Amino acid sequence: RLHPVILAGGSGTRFWPLSRRRRPKQLLALASNLPLIAETAARLEGLCDTADILTVCGRAHAHSIRRLLPRVASKGILVEPVARNTAAAIGLASLVVRARDPNGVLAVLPSDHAILNRQAFHDAVRDAARTASQGPLVTIGIRPTRPETGFGYIKVGETHPKGARKVLSFVEKPDLAKAQSYLHSGDYLWNAGMFVFRADRMLEELQTHAPDCAAALAKIEPFVGTQGFARALARWFPECPSVSIDYAVMEKAEDLAVVPAELGWSDLGSFASLPDVRKADGTGNVVDGDVLFFDASRNVVIGQRTKPIALIGCSDLVVIDAGDAVLVCSRERAQEVRRVVEALEARG
Ligand code: GDD
Ligand code: MG
Repeated sequence: RLHPVILAGGSGTRFWPLSRRRRPKQLLALASNLPLIAETAARLEGLCDTADILTVCGRAHAHSIRRLLPRVASKGILVEPVARNTAAAIGLASLVVRARDPNGVLAVLPSDHAILNRQAFHDAVRDAARTASQGPLVTIGIRPTRPETGFGYIKVGETHPKGARKVLSFVEKPDLAKAQSYLHSGDYLWNAGMFVFRADRMLEELQTHAPDCAAALAKIEPFVGTQGFARALARWFPECPSVSIDYAVMEKAEDLAVVPAELGWSDLGSFASLPDVRKADGTGNVVDGDVLFFDASRNVVIGQRTKPIALIGCSDLVVIDAGDAVLVCSRERAQEVRRVVEALEARG
């Protein structure tokens, strides 16, 4: 059986002032009028039973997430006592799935991406699950379009018996020179951050490549499904080292496969990526709220319904009014919003 797992522990600072500590990116309605995590769950309809969804998140967001995912059973929400990055979160989900279904296959999905082509997404996950049931850890691969240094790169090999492709190497977040050479070689795909694998296989790989994490999880395992689970988590989960699955396992594991797919995928890295996933008006402005334009094009403007914003004679700007804070920046430099967050945090 396919067990969908949504990772929702990210804290995300690149969407300030919409995102805050209490309201990280996955809780924002960036790509449509649904919060990204609700869209992630809705996207699973027709692929698996959405009542089977497990979501892994931090304490601070568990309440909001429960409200946004009413179909997810409360035991489907795994609350981490502290954030320990994705290796620990994925290991924990694997334990829970293995206890319920020893041959279970997980489809681990980020909670904060946009996917325009739902059918292609379903097809890719189904293909990945078919390959994963044979043993490999499987990712979904996206054809790269720029030398992005924030992604994992997958060198694609020959066809796998079940239709996926073998992975020759996995490189997480290369430097710019490497990213450029991977892009130009044509031999690499981006890792979309989705992982499909058998629970027992992932736990084996953690045992081999991340033994400290596996040891902490082994202490928690006897309590899965019991009254003592939350206490066991509070006691031992913090012993997991904080490392992503990409560095901990994907760069090191031998038996990896990738399903190349065209999903209309975006990781929504900053406000500058919204035009990739939202319809622009005739002059290329992407708008949410009550906005007036006069000779203004290719701007991204998000405001409040009750408070008009007007732009005159400017282009390629990002203007965001969150009610209690306003951001104005050039589209090119939208990544730098994290500087504002750092500066505000330093101010206390
Ligand atoms: N539960 C939980 N706990 N979830 C977490 C944690 C955690 O401690 N840390 C991150 N997440 C969630 C985020 O909310 C997000 O949905 C997902 O895990 C991935 O984490 P990111 O922090 O966004 O990873 P990244 O963007 O740097 O890199 C990953 O995604 C890229 C594609 O967007 C890697 O897998 C890259 O290889 C990949 O290219
Ligand atoms: Mg990300």
